[in-house]
Amino acid sequence: MKSAANSADWLPASWQKKPAVQQPVYPDANALQSVLAQLARLPPLVTSWEIENLKHQLAEAARGERFLLQGGDCSESFAECESDAIVSKLKILLQMSLVLMQGGRKRVTRIGRFAGQYAKPRSADTETRGGIALPAYRGDLINGAGFTPEERLPDPQRLLRAYERSGLTINFIRALIEGGFADLRHPEYWELAFVSKSPHAAEYTRMVETIGESLRFIEALSGSQMADIARVDFFTSHEGLHLFYEQAQTRQVPHRTGWYNLSTHMPWIGERTRALGGAHIEYFRGIANPIGVKIGPQVTPDEALALADTLNPGNEPGRLTFIHRFGADQVQRGLPPLVEAIRRQEKQILWCCDPMHGNTETTGGGIKTRRFEKILAELETSFRILNECGAHPGGVHFELTGDNVTECLGGASGVTEADLARDYRTQVDPRLNYEQAMEMALLLARLMAQKRKQ
Ligand code: PEP
Ligand code: CO
Repeated sequence: MKSAANSADWLPASWQKKPAVQQPVYPDANALQSVLAQLARLPPLVTSWEIENLKHQLAEAARGERFLLQGGDCSESFAECESDAIVSKLKILLQMSLVLMQGGRKRVTRIGRFAGQYAKPRSADTETRGGIALPAYRGDLINGAGFTPEERLPDPQRLLRAYERSGLTINFIRALIEGGFADLRHPEYWELAFVSKSPHAAEYTRMVETIGESLRFIEALSGSQMADIARVDFFTSHEGLHLFYEQAQTRQVPHRTGWYNLSTHMPWIGERTRALGGAHIEYFRGIANPIGVKIGPQVTPDEALALADTLNPGNEPGRLTFIHRFGADQVQRGLPPLVEAIRRQEKQILWCCDPMHGNTETTGGGIKTRRFEKILAELETSFRILNECGAHPGGVHFELTGDNVTECLGGASGVTEADLARDYRTQVDPRLNYEQAMEMALLLARLMAQKRKQ
């Protein structure tokens, strides 16, 4: 099968001839080059085996045989590269995936927005406070969040710090999983401290018990341990925004053709950088990884088809995921024509709903937030549209945390505008907290169960 990676006209640096938006400007070009040379020699964070395995799983999800759960912070921070923060992200994703598995009766692939999600696109190049304008904060990969000229100056050393922290994060995750942390027979390992106080505790506990019993039943019947079923894995993803950083870790590997981005399993292209003639599309079309593209309300059916042609010329299953993020108010207008066009042309696409990024709003008090009911409404509408158009709602993409932050409004625990100030921690976009994320998973599982029974 012809894949983008076989294109003779592509090299990891080809993007440099195209217009590249959202790239930092470093004060010292030599310092940047020296860091990139170091990055290019460091060992990879993931392997092509894992990447191809994920592509295979995403092809199953596109056929409706599996479901994708992608989630994590809007942006990781260097300060939160610590044991508790990583463990609680794993725990919430594991718990949600268990609930979704139970609702959909399908295996779930978990992809974290972690181990490399350090760069953020910004709508303005500068931020002004009290009459002072400084470069915008672009994520810890590039500069610091503090509002001082020193912090906001792009520093290439941060590329190495981010790479190292990505390595530390993925190492810890692999070790936990290897050690049995994610074993479906032991969901008590992933219990978060406040689960028992959650309004969803009873429903969740019932599900966990049912799954445990089913596994034990199958094991008793077969007389062997279901290691393959009971053990789950995790994949990593981040927005492939900083093209010099991504290029430095793009390699050829023995026994395979093509080029792999070995900094993550599944990089994605953001809504602000998916211009067809732009540098990001040029870089992404040549790598062999499964990739995502954010699809917002401005994308026309022709553009969606052109993205599919350019990024997946061989129509390889599992290669391309459209992460659609229209907003609850726009999805009914915007999504059906795209799904129709893709279906008519028989393009291989995994449809994954990101109900977060089209539903961001600012409160009267100037706080960036999202409403639980709008997030849920976009999910429900998207699922209905995809089903009606004969496509599969193949996955979901959330910004969430296992902590009890107060960043999004609503949910059964009733976070109000007045509560937002209590524990608002994100530097960028508001995340679902533990309870909101679990409630979302339970509601989604009901939706999947309904569909199954139709
Ligand atoms: C994000 O995923 O954090 C993001 C910036 O999304 P989008 O590109 O869809 O706006
Ligand atoms: Co975000």
